[in-house]
Amino acid sequence: MKNIGVLTSGGDSPGMNSAIRAVARTCAHYNLKCTGIIRGYQGLIENDTKVLYTRSVRGIINRGGTFLYSARSDEFKTEQGRKSAYDNLIKNNIDGLVVIGGDGSFTGGLKLIQEYDFPVIGIPGTIDNDLFGTSHTLGYDTALNTATEAIDKIRDTAISHHRLFLVEVMGRDAGFIALNTGLAIGAQEILIPEVNMSLDNLIDSLKRSKNAGKTSTIIVVAEGDKTGNNVFQLADTIETKLPKYEVRVSVLGHMQRGGSPSCFDRVLGTQMGITSVESLVNNEKGLMIGISNGKIAKTDLSKAIKGKTKINKELLRMSRIMNT
Ligand code: ADP
Ligand code: F6P
Repeated sequence: MKNIGVLTSGGDSPGMNSAIRAVARTCAHYNLKCTGIIRGYQGLIENDTKVLYTRSVRGIINRGGTFLYSARSDEFKTEQGRKSAYDNLIKNNIDGLVVIGGDGSFTGGLKLIQEYDFPVIGIPGTIDNDLFGTSHTLGYDTALNTATEAIDKIRDTAISHHRLFLVEVMGRDAGFIALNTGLAIGAQEILIPEVNMSLDNLIDSLKRSKNAGKTSTIIVVAEGDKTGNNVFQLADTIETKLPKYEVRVSVLGHMQRGGSPSCFDRVLGTQMGITSVESLVNNEKGLMIGISNGKIAKTDLSKAIKGKTKINKELLRMSRIMNT
């Protein structure tokens, strides 16, 4: 292993820069060359690369987004696209690749291993926390803090105007952000993709909350919640069935993916970046670097993608105890 490539792919997440920095500096530590690939797999297909020296990655650990930029590449999903990407890995004398991204990016990385026997190690960079084999994905902690802070601000208006707010947080397929921020801000209900809370139960809960004399109410809704209704449809239903409520909707959106990474994500990115290089040096491949009980844990990429981390439904029960 003389030259290690690193790319970020798919949705960006806070902490990716910390991981890139760690990859580059660990390469320098072991006297390896580090090649940064710009805009993920698409940049690899277009042979858009730059050498990363120790000083190339200064001043980025505190920055959100990804300094190597990210992309979604449909071309890489084709055999021809992956052939061009592989040819460029060889042209650049890259011996191993660190892929920082989500399950889609890992699926792409697995194909490089299967089709070309090319060594790939994955770092789970996504705010959704939806990869198996790690208690925390990179960026998840920051996103929780960002969403919590944002909903605290919305709570001020909810209190001042005696309103009900439906707040949509990210999570197309996973409710980790919704569940934890919901508990942190004292949500009346938390709607997530993993649990079907029927509309009837939601309406009953709101009736109870009114009868209990609550004046401000917040419902946290994950993008992919199981009722199948988006936040605006939910708001219409509530206003029709419970006209006493003055309802507002707030969609937090991409603000949750940006911003300076938390201390936790900076440390996690550093640990993951260092371990990814050391794994490649030790001839390991096809692994995701995760964290479990505070310790680095490695999981087969295929398991990381296919396995499901179970949501802690106990937190939902506890949230309801808090809202009696
Ligand atoms: P994420 O990594 O955040 O889950 P995507 O699902 O958009 O984001 O995947 C990122 C990129 O990974 C895609 O744009 C594509 O280049 C690559 N990728 C995803 N799925 C596949 C696949 N089945 N085969 C090859 N490459 C894939
Ligand atoms: O990074 C994952 C995620 O935040 C999902 O929760 C969300 O549905 C998706 O990205 C949106 O991504 P984009 O706007 O990049 O398509």
